[in-house]
Amino acid sequence: MKRTTKALIAAPLISVAVGALAMAGIVFAADAPAPAPTDVPLPAAAPRPASEGPAQSPSDVAAPEAAATAPSDMTPQVDNLADKGKYLATAGNCISCHTRAGGEEFAGGVEFHSPLGSIHSTNITPDPETGIGKWTEADFIKAMHDGVAPGGRYLFPAFPYTAFTKVSEDDVKAIYHYLKTLKPVAYTPPANGLLFNSLSRYGMIFWNALFHKSERYKTDTTQSAEWNRGAYLTEGLGHCSACHSPRNLFLAEKQDEAYSGGEILDKVGEGEGPGKEKIRKWSGVNLTPAKSGLGAWSVDDIAAYLNKGFAPRHAGTWGPMTEVIVNSMRHLSTEDTKAMAVYIKSLPPREPAGGVAIAEDQTKAGAPVYKDRCAKCHMDSGRGGMFNGPPLVGSAIVQHADPASLINIIMYGANAPKEVSTGQWETMKPLGEVLTDAEIAAVANYVRSSWGNTGRPVQAADVAQQR
Ligand code: HEC
Ligand code: HEC
Ligand code: HEC
Repeated sequence: MKRTTKALIAAPLISVAVGALAMAGIVFAADAPAPAPTDVPLPAAAPRPASEGPAQSPSDVAAPEAAATAPSDMTPQVDNLADKGKYLATAGNCISCHTRAGGEEFAGGVEFHSPLGSIHSTNITPDPETGIGKWTEADFIKAMHDGVAPGGRYLFPAFPYTAFTKVSEDDVKAIYHYLKTLKPVAYTPPANGLLFNSLSRYGMIFWNALFHKSERYKTDTTQSAEWNRGAYLTEGLGHCSACHSPRNLFLAEKQDEAYSGGEILDKVGEGEGPGKEKIRKWSGVNLTPAKSGLGAWSVDDIAAYLNKGFAPRHAGTWGPMTEVIVNSMRHLSTEDTKAMAVYIKSLPPREPAGGVAIAEDQTKAGAPVYKDRCAKCHMDSGRGGMFNGPPLVGSAIVQHADPASLINIIMYGANAPKEVSTGQWETMKPLGEVLTDAEIAAVANYVRSSWGNTGRPVQAADVAQQR
């Protein structure tokens, strides 16, 4: 943490800092992410049409016709409240953060690491003693909207209530009723690390006052119902900004740079045995339609990626995004993932400022490594191929200001999860043991400065950090 603001907010600094460090995704790394969930299909609510035309409509964003329906009224019709709640809980990916490896679903205990110690997700099954069995509907709404649990217990924003606050009261109630139908599991997560104790929870009072606005999603009447539905899901339950927006000194999301890219700590590689996973930084790419973001992706590309984990013209899922796709997005209706794509494609393009260009000799140094190690699948042209791999031309991963994810995929390879098909592509194997830090930096610079791509220079030291 930099010192510059010390004078400004000296008094609440310590408590705020503790709260701030609890931010989801940035300083925390879940070392026991949820297993792929039992693949219980959602009720008929989520039809999965097989058709996915290759042709793209040139005009990606539908002409807005003022929204007539509130976005929260557009959840696929289901028979009862609990089924509706299940669909919404899936959109919120509660299961990923509240199911520890080998543990029962929703019983909590996933450990999130931080430099100050660790914090665990809670048991949200209806067990009266260890879960939320005694919570009233109003208690639950307060936790989801304000980040405060019964007894005035302030929650740390590793629980993304800063996004869930946008979710309508009726939708939160539906989730509550769904959770009530789960099998109660008696399980108390391990105690949190020293700095995430009951005392430091009061730090969140300051943090919330500065950075949390408890307010529901407001329909933008100048936009279509589809756009509003997409915004509602992306900003609310989907909490995409938690990993894809940059944060300020207190780890609150910077609203004016929203979706231009964030960073998170998560696993790279499996390591040897439980608790031995390697925890490293990842860059959550720029989701705005900027050149270094999703500029090259159409609405249909984004929708396909969210819905199937595979956009044949751009990318398949690997890394931390896999959990989002496998446990959450692929279970949504195609209408809903399309709506999210429409919203994402309409974001103002944001290109991170500053940064030096990659020098010509840096590009040259990487050329032989590329030819040797990458061209087989990504082609000399960088355009990839149907039977080989995705294009690197225009890739958001390749061009992102922070090269962490690019370095990770070169070092640790990419494994598409079994739930996702990446067509005929080959598997990208890890090269961390084969290439030196300098070679990895060189080839990263090569792909970041070839075929019209632009990115900041990568140093061998950046690579060393990710080992
Ligand atoms: C990014 C990870 C993450 C996601 C996604 C997530 N949670 Fe949590 N949740 C946590 C963590 C961590 C805590 C513990 C916070 C604390 O102790 O201050 C928590 C706490 C809670 C609590 C407070 C329980 C208590 O006993 O204090 C509730 C309720 C809750 N989550 C419900 C949900 C629901 C419902 C969803 C899905 C809509 C969800 N969470 C999604 C990480 C997450
Ligand atoms: C837990 C953190 C996390 C969350 C939550 C998250 N993402 Fe990501 N996302 C990442 C990371 C890290 C990457 C880059 C590496 C990878 O693919 O894992 C990424 C990559 C992507 C990509 C680019 C794929 C590519 O290869 O170019 C898209 C598109 C995307 N995310 C969309 C979304 C959307 C939409 C949401 C909300 C539903 C979302 N993400 C939520 C972490 C996250
Ligand atoms: C054996 C074939 C193969 C080789 C060799 C290979 N890759 Fe890949 N690469 C792939 C495949 C397949 C994917 C898609 C993985 C997925 O989505 O599951 C991929 C994905 C990527 C991505 C992510 C694209 C995105 O937007 O998600 C980057 C970046 C990348 N490769 C760079 C490289 C670099 C640099 C090299 C050489 C050091 C290399 N690859 C070598 C097959 C390969």
